[in-house]
Amino acid sequence: MKSIKETLFGRRSIRRYERECIPAEALDTIYEAIRNTPTSYNGQQFSVIDVSDQAIKEQLYEIVGQKQIKTCSHFLLFCADFNKIATIAEAKGINMSEFTKTLDGIIVGTVDAALAMMSAVVAAESFGLGTCCIGYARTAAPEAVSILLNLPKYTYPVCGLAIGVPREMPDLKPKQPLSLIIHQNRYRDDDLLPDLTAYDEEITRFNATRSGSKTDNDWASHIVDYYHQAMSYRLLEALRQRGFDAIE
Ligand SMILES: Cc1cc2nc3c(=O)[nH]c(=O)nc-3n(C[C@H](O)[C@H](O)[C@H](O)COP(=O)(O)O)c2cc1C
Repeated sequence: MKSIKETLFGRRSIRRYERECIPAEALDTIYEAIRNTPTSYNGQQFSVIDVSDQAIKEQLYEIVGQKQIKTCSHFLLFCADFNKIATIAEAKGINMSEFTKTLDGIIVGTVDAALAMMSAVVAAESFGLGTCCIGYARTAAPEAVSILLNLPKYTYPVCGLAIGVPREMPDLKPKQPLSLIIHQNRYRDDDLLPDLTAYDEEITRFNATRSGSKTDNDWASHIVDYYHQAMSYRLLEALRQRGFDAIE
């Protein structure tokens, strides 16, 4: 197994995988890492659908796109889940709170599911496996994904994670310098622009010279372009259909 430093500092998204399955020991460790994720109130407001059946992966691919879904060994869908607590609350005659209808309820479920996904990423990477988060599993067609995977009311897809044996090792993407990420004691109040401009230029150089496919993308316009695309997502409507129907 890799050290924590190797695991965290060497992580990069892997989008091409060998055909082989990931080892059972690695999968067990990924499951246990997911299980011990810190969660709000210890409510464990998440569930994971492990999709290993090739036919279902292909169906998911048809809905979501993103070829990693059909070429990976295991595709994990991380879901926010209030179905479990609602079920036991009903059985015990506990009046279920309207928390699921609040923005904080949505955030709690989403954060729990995202942390569980990161637990899986770290565990998988420590075994030398490749991972790629798939946000399109939430945005492309959330209701179709939910129906295919039998998600009950009070759950919704947050993010997918493709896991497989790596068939590529792309260059590590440069990340923002610590001066833009870590603020000491309070948000820095000097001008961010010089650091941002330098980072934007670094990404532009990286995209033009990296191994594999090269682009002339900068960082800022590329990211803002994603935000423009994201304006077409209709997640509130999808959430309402999942039982989160009166979000404050
Ligand atoms: C929440 C989330 C959703 C993502 N969704 C996708 C996706 O749908 N497709 C994809 O190819 N990569 C996806 N990624 C991977 C990012 O593009 C990648 O993490 C980012 O470009 C940084 O590159 P790196 O992971 O190699 O450091 C996603 C990452 C995160 C954290």
